[in-house]
Amino acid sequence: MKIAICGAGTVGTGVAQILHDNADLIKLRGGEAIEIAVVASRRPPSEGPLADLEFTSDLISVCGRSDVDVVVELMGGTTDAKHLIETSLRAGKSVVTANKALIAEHGDDLFEIAAKHDVSLKFEASVAGSIPIIKVLQESLAGARIGWIAGIINGTANFILTEMASEGVSRSFDTVLAEAQALGYAEADPTFDIDGTDAAHKLAILGALAFDQPLRFDQVHIEGIAEIDPSDFKFAKAFGYRIKHLGVARSSGESLEMAVYPCLVSTAAMLSGIDGVLNGVLVSSEAAGETFCCGAGAGAGPTGNAVVADLIDLQRQGLRPGSDAPRRTDESLKMLRPEETEAGFYLRITVEDRPGVMSGITTVLADFGISLDKIMQEDAANHRATIALVTDSIVQGVVEQAVAKLEQHDAVLGKIQKIRVF
Ligand SMILES: NC(=O)c1ccc[n+]([C@@H]2O[C@H](COP(=O)([O-])OP(=O)(O)OC[C@H]3O[C@@H](n4cnc5c(N)ncnc54)[C@H](OP(=O)(O)O)[C@@H]3O)[C@@H](O)[C@H]2O)c1
Repeated sequence: MKIAICGAGTVGTGVAQILHDNADLIKLRGGEAIEIAVVASRRPPSEGPLADLEFTSDLISVCGRSDVDVVVELMGGTTDAKHLIETSLRAGKSVVTANKALIAEHGDDLFEIAAKHDVSLKFEASVAGSIPIIKVLQESLAGARIGWIAGIINGTANFILTEMASEGVSRSFDTVLAEAQALGYAEADPTFDIDGTDAAHKLAILGALAFDQPLRFDQVHIEGIAEIDPSDFKFAKAFGYRIKHLGVARSSGESLEMAVYPCLVSTAAMLSGIDGVLNGVLVSSEAAGETFCCGAGAGAGPTGNAVVADLIDLQRQGLRPGSDAPRRTDESLKMLRPEETEAGFYLRITVEDRPGVMSGITTVLADFGISLDKIMQEDAANHRATIALVTDSIVQGVVEQAVAKLEQHDAVLGKIQKIRVF
């Protein structure tokens, strides 16, 4: 099988390295060798496993080449990459991509073009690097009715939260972000990792597959991690939780909820133990119970490994569309707005330290029908105190109303922190 590698960056180089290092295994397991016929990118690679191969800066030219069976799109972005993939599929070439933004935002159109031209569009590498979660949903759990899926699907955000929670000197979000950048775990512009957009792209893909729905990136509720304060980790720990940034897709069978947000996760839960740049995805289904996958979520090797696995799948299925092409039911699930969903909530409230304040706070919460699971108060300097609490499960819209009311309370100082409990 001959491929074109489009995009000579981190993942493109990783794929070429694996194809070179594991050529014997790949030939044995896939039935034939995988050769790189051409590398297409903006600039020719000057070193590494792509350097001595045929190069072109004319991306679209690879689509018409008779010596290219599969186009591997590893450039990123949603403009040139989309044009390249559409042209490749229309030319009868199967495509493998790692591009989550493109699949999440335009995947439905691309899958339609692939089906029309009887070719495959494979995207295992687009979610959670080396973790084979697309295969788990499309193959291993193909017969299971999924109730929910929850994942730590952005390694940069997980690294920052892990470091902020570590013992010793508490460090602010900005300090830890600067450390992550220095270590190469966060990009120069980490906006999409921090604000939740990257995780939302991946969740849109997982949610569509888990519930046989169209891709709905624009309907994923997105919250990032920039508002988490070092004190939140301390209170979370005292209550028996860790703070993780999760992507959650949940369906009742009639409605669908898809959101990425920071969450308090019980220290007893599997997801709470996924630290640093690792990713972890938990899928709950009636038939299989809880299926947990974890591993490296990014990087040249892990992401390249997922791309190569897709290529071997294509070899095995003779380049024809596999049984794993995404399916869509005719019944579109109603999307729940965040305020319609239910959870327990952690609140951190800074108050004036004077008699009666604690009972004033709990009275307001009781007026909204909110009962408490845990509560503690910590006195600070300057006649201030912090009340931290965890509510029982309640509709988010009700908590938001209660928080708005509490923020008007004469003893409450500043904005109240609100974080979901998973
Ligand atoms: N890195 C990871 O760990 C990881 C993990 C999962 C998924 N992914 C996805 O994999 C894809 C590639 O990521 P990456 O980290 O390998 O990116 P990268 O290191 O920035 O490499 C991208 C390569 O594509 C080239 N390129 C970009 N736009 C181009 C265009 N319009 N025309 C021609 N060449 C173009 C770049 O050239 P220049 O350098 O000259 O601009 C560069 O060689 C992205 O979709 C990303 O989301 C990455």
